[in-house]
Amino acid sequence: MTRIEPVQIESPGFKSNPHPFYARLREGSPVARVKLLNGRPAWVVARYADVAGLLKDGRFAKDRANAVTGDQLAKLPRPPKAFAPLMRNMLDRDDPDHARLRRLVQKGFTSQRVETLAERTQVLSDQLIDRATARGGFDLINDFALPLPVTVISEMLGVPEPDRARFARWSKTIITNTMTPLSLLVSMPHMLAFLRYLRWLIEEKRRRPADDLTTALVEAEESGDALDADELLAMVAILLSAGHETTTNLIGNGMLALLQHPDQFERLGAQPELIEPAIEELLRFGSPVEMSTFRYAREDLEIAGQPIARGDMVLALIASANRDETQFPQAERLDLGREPNRHLTFGLGGHFCVGAPLARMEGRIAVNTLVRRLPTLRLLRPDAPLRWRRGLVLRGLETLPVIIS
Ligand code: HEM
Repeated sequence: MTRIEPVQIESPGFKSNPHPFYARLREGSPVARVKLLNGRPAWVVARYADVAGLLKDGRFAKDRANAVTGDQLAKLPRPPKAFAPLMRNMLDRDDPDHARLRRLVQKGFTSQRVETLAERTQVLSDQLIDRATARGGFDLINDFALPLPVTVISEMLGVPEPDRARFARWSKTIITNTMTPLSLLVSMPHMLAFLRYLRWLIEEKRRRPADDLTTALVEAEESGDALDADELLAMVAILLSAGHETTTNLIGNGMLALLQHPDQFERLGAQPELIEPAIEELLRFGSPVEMSTFRYAREDLEIAGQPIARGDMVLALIASANRDETQFPQAERLDLGREPNRHLTFGLGGHFCVGAPLARMEGRIAVNTLVRRLPTLRLLRPDAPLRWRRGLVLRGLETLPVIIS
């Protein structure tokens, strides 16, 4: 019998410091079995080389229907019917559908395209800081790290201003959903409201086309077989939710790391040109995406000598790979000048993050502006326990109260 690790990897308690557990796995059980909150078992993979291998491994499917037998599929719990359209997003699909969907949006997120948004991101960062500092102390998450990416992705997708605050709420419910019956019950009204809103937004763009990404996707749907109505809905949903919570965590976890390492904070203040390697290091060290989404074995196979059966669910522990000493000397040390820094925070292979250039640009402007404008920024209560969000894939703070000393 394979031993089940006695940890609850979705809980805020685990999220508060997962690294000792990861270090133990890398040392002795690099492929371990855990039980998720909904009772289902999953494999977790801890070492850098195995994580990188898994993310590129064609023997795994993202859509479980492509991995399991018809009999197995019939026995698996299904998400509520109302959520079914959301499962048609590219992250839960395999080629050729995955490639078809990805092609539709990829050019909206190239480095050149994203650089045209840098000026606007700078203006928004300054406005948020002006507003927050007028009150003295502020919450770095809810007053800055959350509204910045929400505004940028909402503007890209053409979401009207008064509607944006609701996304943070809906998206949080969706991301923290642990798929237990209780969690599904609690999140159901929010999910339904989110779906209703997305349908309204899509119809609105049909009626009044605008210069935004949602309109471009609506036109692609209307022009033929590029994507169907559910795929369109799922695309807007994944861009909206993947487009902000992750970047919120990059800014939040990144600033926490800097505030807990004042020497590195000062180093960046003195050398703002260090920002590119600094963001890569904050991506590695803070790992805003803690682990990959699920992959399903298409056949019986082995990872690092551990047999995995066809249909089993596997998660790549990105945050653990990012602290693997075999890849990163002194991995526990925050070093803003670290080079090379081949972290796996944006994944690898076919599902490598489409939004990486956007996230990097937003992170660069947000962190540099905070450090430049608020050189005396401090944690309000350095010894108080931090509040981490519940959930599987992401790792981020609920709040981060700060003061300007
Ligand atoms: C710091 C911020 C971000 C991080 C750390 C991050 C991380 C990731 C990771 C690890 C994956 C792959 C997951 C897997 O293979 O299981 C992924 C995929 C994806 N990300 Fe991001 N992401 C970030 C920001 C964004 C932004 C700003 C957007 C877009 C608006 C975005 C859109 C996507 C999409 C659409 C996918 C699916 C790609 C595919 O299936 O081909 N992400 N992201």
